[in-house]
Amino acid sequence: MKAKWIIESPAENDQVPVTRRLTIKGLIWITHERETDGQSHISRIAKYLIAVGFVIALGSSAGCGHRTTTLADESNASLSGEGFRMRPLTDRTFERTPIRLERGRYLVEGVLHCFYCHAQRDWDARGAPAIADRKGGGCILIDEPGHRRVAPNISPDMETGAGTWTDDMFARAIREGIGHDGRALFGMPWRTFRNLPDEDLASVISYIRSIPPVSNALPKRILNEEEEKRLDPQPLTEPVPQPDLSTPVKRGQYLVSVADCRFCHTPRQNNRPIPGLEFSGGFALKSRLGEVASANITPDPSGISYYDEALFLEVIRTGKVKARELNATMPWGFFRNIADEDLKSIFAYLQTLKPVSHRVDNTEPPTGCKLCGQRHGFGDRNEQRAEDNP
Ligand code: HEC
Ligand code: HEC
Repeated sequence: MKAKWIIESPAENDQVPVTRRLTIKGLIWITHERETDGQSHISRIAKYLIAVGFVIALGSSAGCGHRTTTLADESNASLSGEGFRMRPLTDRTFERTPIRLERGRYLVEGVLHCFYCHAQRDWDARGAPAIADRKGGGCILIDEPGHRRVAPNISPDMETGAGTWTDDMFARAIREGIGHDGRALFGMPWRTFRNLPDEDLASVISYIRSIPPVSNALPKRILNEEEEKRLDPQPLTEPVPQPDLSTPVKRGQYLVSVADCRFCHTPRQNNRPIPGLEFSGGFALKSRLGEVASANITPDPSGISYYDEALFLEVIRTGKVKARELNATMPWGFFRNIADEDLKSIFAYLQTLKPVSHRVDNTEPPTGCKLCGQRHGFGDRNEQRAEDNP
């Protein structure tokens, strides 16, 4: 009955949690004092950790155990069937060091593209960049009858933004899918950001909390019934260590795992990525910029086998594949801020992907695709896979 949840705290090991009692969905969750060294195996081996144990009034500890994050394979998985789980907040804070502020700026403005959603954007400019003095101020992403998606104001504005939130509210939102007010988040790529190691998370939070406040009051979200059912936030119960960045391919794998490339570039059925078609495109994405299918970015002749490193950098920096302009639904206006070395690593990793034959061409009118089940340009040029054809 007693579950021990470890809450990582890389640089905040002198922080002292207090005993707390809080009620979540009618259950009493009780947190305990910090464990002292010697009390448990875990606290002995993990000097830097703060162990917070609390009783979960639900079933056995097996039902509330941890799950580890694997790189890049869970991006925005939905319907995982794991249900709604959250941990209580801690009072940890992240020290704002100059190194963290710089690293945080680099991640937020580039590979993590936070202001792709959390800012008003200049939709008429190429790449639809975030408007400079609206960064972090949030945006209404979709507003239809019965359905409104809102990226909240996460700038440090006291009245309309996140000025009063705590560092751990940010940490829990970014990697665990719980808003500052305890709601489960929908449409925030927390499953992708779950791959962020503790130090990069600390950098992102330090930076986001240091940007100028933006005054922007936004309405609340409206989810439909099906979306409500897909809410399944999951706590992180172990530290996320620094990934292996020792080779360009490994570095690229890490960057791709936090950039959401897999989510947009893998076609889905019933809100699940279709196995075997990873990174092969054809996922029809709708936004203010119209409807556009993602591209096949595997090294197949129907994908980007004709790219070399120089062309990849040119595409990401300019949003153009030679004469062809990319729709800004592809966040190239943000990814263009990624440093050369990191872009080269991303390309090195993409080249290791399994080639998938899947023709997708946005310059052609959409037609039904037997392979991915969606409609996209050149859909009719693809055949159903033998294994899908009993
Ligand atoms: C693809 C769009 C998208 C991107 C990219 C994105 N977010 Fe979000 N984010 C959202 C949406 C939508 C919500 C609100 C979800 C809801 O209310 O159900 C949200 C919620 C949040 C929240 C919780 C706000 C609250 O009310 O408590 C925080 C914090 C946050 N995002 C931070 C970030 C950071 C930091 C980044 C970059 C590392 C980021 N987001 C990138 C869409 C996005
Ligand atoms: C928010 C969704 C989204 C994300 C995230 C995203 N892409 Fe894209 N990407 C698209 C769409 C949509 C297109 C097609 C644009 C068009 O044809 O106008 C595209 C096109 C591309 C192309 C151009 C292919 C060609 O020659 O037609 C490349 C290369 C690419 N993406 C790479 C990436 C990489 C690498 C990442 C991660 C670092 C990534 N994308 C993340 C949506 C996304």
